[in-house]
Formats: sequence, structure tokens, C-alpha cells
Amino acid sequence: MTTASMSVAKNNPVTALRCRECGNEYPKAPVHVCEYCFGPLEIAYDYAAIGKVLTRTVIESRAPNMWRYAELLPLDAPPVVGTQTGMTPLVRADRLARRLGVRELWVKNDAVSHPTLSFKDRVVSVALSKAIEFGIKTVACASTGNLANATAAQAAAAGLPAVILIPFDLEPAKVLATSIYGARVVAVKGTYDDVNRLCSEIAGKYGWGFVNVNLRPFYAEGSKSFGYEIVEQLGWRCPAHIVVPMAGGSLVTKIGKAFGELDKLGLIATGSARKTKIHGAQAAGCAPIVDMVLENREQMKPVRTPTSIAKSLAIGNPADGFYARQTIIGSGGFAAKPDDDEIVAAMRLLAETEGIFTETAGGVTLGATMKLIASGKIGKDDGPIVVSVTGNGMKTQDPLVGKLPTPALIGPSLADFDKLEATISK
Ligand SMILES: Cc1ncc(COP(=O)(O)O)c(C=O)c1O
Ligand SMILES: [Zn+2]
Repeated sequence: MTTASMSVAKNNPVTALRCRECGNEYPKAPVHVCEYCFGPLEIAYDYAAIGKVLTRTVIESRAPNMWRYAELLPLDAPPVVGTQTGMTPLVRADRLARRLGVRELWVKNDAVSHPTLSFKDRVVSVALSKAIEFGIKTVACASTGNLANATAAQAAAAGLPAVILIPFDLEPAKVLATSIYGARVVAVKGTYDDVNRLCSEIAGKYGWGFVNVNLRPFYAEGSKSFGYEIVEQLGWRCPAHIVVPMAGGSLVTKIGKAFGELDKLGLIATGSARKTKIHGAQAAGCAPIVDMVLENREQMKPVRTPTSIAKSLAIGNPADGFYARQTIIGSGGFAAKPDDDEIVAAMRLLAETEGIFTETAGGVTLGATMKLIASGKIGKDDGPIVVSVTGNGMKTQDPLVGKLPTPALIGPSLADFDKLEATISK
């Protein structure tokens, strides 16, 4: 670790875990549900203390990774895993902007996240560093794929045994990119929601640290770094719009929290976080949160059998669905749900215009962005507009098979190549 990143987080800024519903407080421990009302627990910070140390100059002097915002992440000591994670590129996407007819478009590119090419590296860096602080000996997760990759990789790097539970029908590349790290992978005959329910029972019985169950309050905070980085990379400005893919609904709520915290700490112009419209994206084949927004409902109707190619987003009963809707509506944002053909078309458009190969989830986000522009929810002259690309296309190639041109096959001679060129120029 660099000297710059070692100099952070000397004063522990976390005061407690606080219930989002009744406000009851709990000491820092691997717990996630309020004993009184079953509400989810959230990390509470001492913002007055953080405000005294965390300035733009301090942040900018630190190493280019997510730990430059360490005071806003819930560790008591410097991180021990994922020390290089974060600070992925924010790419100005002018060619794509011209195709969409908008003025100022950016792509936050976590397709190149270290070490496993999705934004889940951020949440796992926090969760496993915290697990080690708690003295947890075995880590685990319920995953739609990317979390499996990130947990397995970072557990290996930390020397911790990992048990990964996944739905049986995940993309082969995501299964392989989990097993390679030596993790125990268990495929469950059921949907993600079945896997998640099972994991809650296992966590209670075996005492393992499930990153997205009993460590969830700590884990989820890692997603805030995605939001902090965008603001810093835009020159300490919040975007006018951000479009965010949703599965459990945590990332979108944490981006909202991140913008609000920067505002509270005076790191951006006062009140500017409230000007960002946060939009949610899900695939048409599994869109329980988007449907709440489109149908103006507070109650979620769980999707029993997700059918989309965007398997990483296929959570039928999202844990943070209610709060995700609140974040979206509260910001003045909206939601959209492209179908599978629109997802593939958006993946191809992003690749062909910006040279960025996203997984299906990024196709969902860009497909939703296009719908929001077409319906006027995102104005063509509004700026900056940020598209959140959270995972890498090499992991979800199956939906593209048969949809792209195949290579021309020729013999190894100039004559053969000339013949090919002649057919092309005709
Ligand atoms: C690539 C990708 N993007 C976005 C998400 C959504 O994250 P959340 O569950 O926090 O809504 C996931 C979740 O697995 C994901 O894998
Ligand atoms: Zn409570």
C-alpha cells in the first residue's frame, strides 16, 4: 500500500449501525436486521468529525483508488484486501453522444475494475476487510455472478476460505471465473431469491461472513465510491442525470447517499446534489423496481421467474427495492426497462462508438438511457449525463453468439486477400 493511502482513516468515523426504519442503534457487529422492527441496518457516520479532515486537497493527494474516501467507508483500520480497487475511468463519450443526440455524455467504466471487472470489487473490498476486522474465518455470498467472482478472488488474495452460492443457470464464464480462485462453488436448483433465502439460513447456522447478508451494511457502503469518483472526475460537479442498473437496488441508493454526503461535507456546491436526477434501469424480463416507478406504486410485486439475458440483474425480490424507488423518485428521476433485443443493440452500440465492451447489465443501462432520452425524461441539452457501466462483456458472450459478423476465412496468400477485398468493394 502507498504512504498516501496508509495515512487515512486514523479516526474511526463510524458511530454505529442504525435502523433505517425505527432509528434504533446497534454497536458495530456483523448484523444487518433490526431486532425491533426487522428494518435494514445502515452505517451512521460522524460527519462533523469527517468534515474537519476530508477536504478536496486531502482527497486529491491520495492514491487513485476507492480508499481516497476512506473516512466515508466503514473500516476501523486500513483495508487489507482490495487496496488497489476503484478509480476506474470516466470516459467522455462524444461519438455515442452524437448517436443519441445529446450534448454531454460520460461513461463510468467499471468494466475495467480491479480485480474482477465489475463494480462488485468495490463492495467486496469493504466487506472482506471488515470480515477480517471481525475475526471471521470463512466468507461467503449469494450471487448472480459478479459478486461470486469478486468474493472468490479477494478471499483468495486474503487467504480466506470462501463458499459461493449461485443459481444453477448462471453464465459459464461467471462460474469458471469463480472456481479458478479455489472457492467452493455451490449451484442451487432455484432462482437467486431461493439462493438468498438459503444463505440467510446458512449464515445463522454456520456463523460465516456472508458479504451480502450479515455483512450487508458494511458491504453496501463500498458502492458509494462509484458515486464519489464520478463527482471528483467531473471536477467536483454532480451530473445532471445518472442512469444506474439495479438488481437488489443497493447501488442506486448508495449513489444517492454518496452525492448527499459530498454536499453535506461541503465538497461540492451547496445543494447541488439535489439537482441530480437518478434513473433506474432493469431488463424487461425482471423489472420489479422499474415497474414500481412506472406504475407509481410503493409496494413491490416480486418477479417469480426472471427471463432476461441480463442474469446479473435477475433478482425478482430485491432487498433494497423500496429504498431504490425512494432514491429515484426523491431525485426527480425515472426508470426504464429495455427488452433483450434492445439490450444487445445497446451493447453493440457502446462497443462500436466508444470501444467499451460491457456485459448485459451495461446494455440494460444504455438501453434504458436511450428510452429516457426518447421520452424526454433526459433532455438533449442537459449535461453532464452519466451512464453507469458496471460489468465486462467478456463474461456474458452467449447472447451475442450468432448476432455478430463472423470472420471471413481465406488462404494465406495475397491473391486470396485481393479476392476478398474485391468482393467487399463491390
Ligand atoms: C454488473 C452489475 N451491475 C449492477 C448490479 C446491481 O447491483 P445492486 O444489487 O446493488 O442493485 C449488479 C448486481 O449484481 C451487477 O452484477
Ligand atoms: Zn428498527
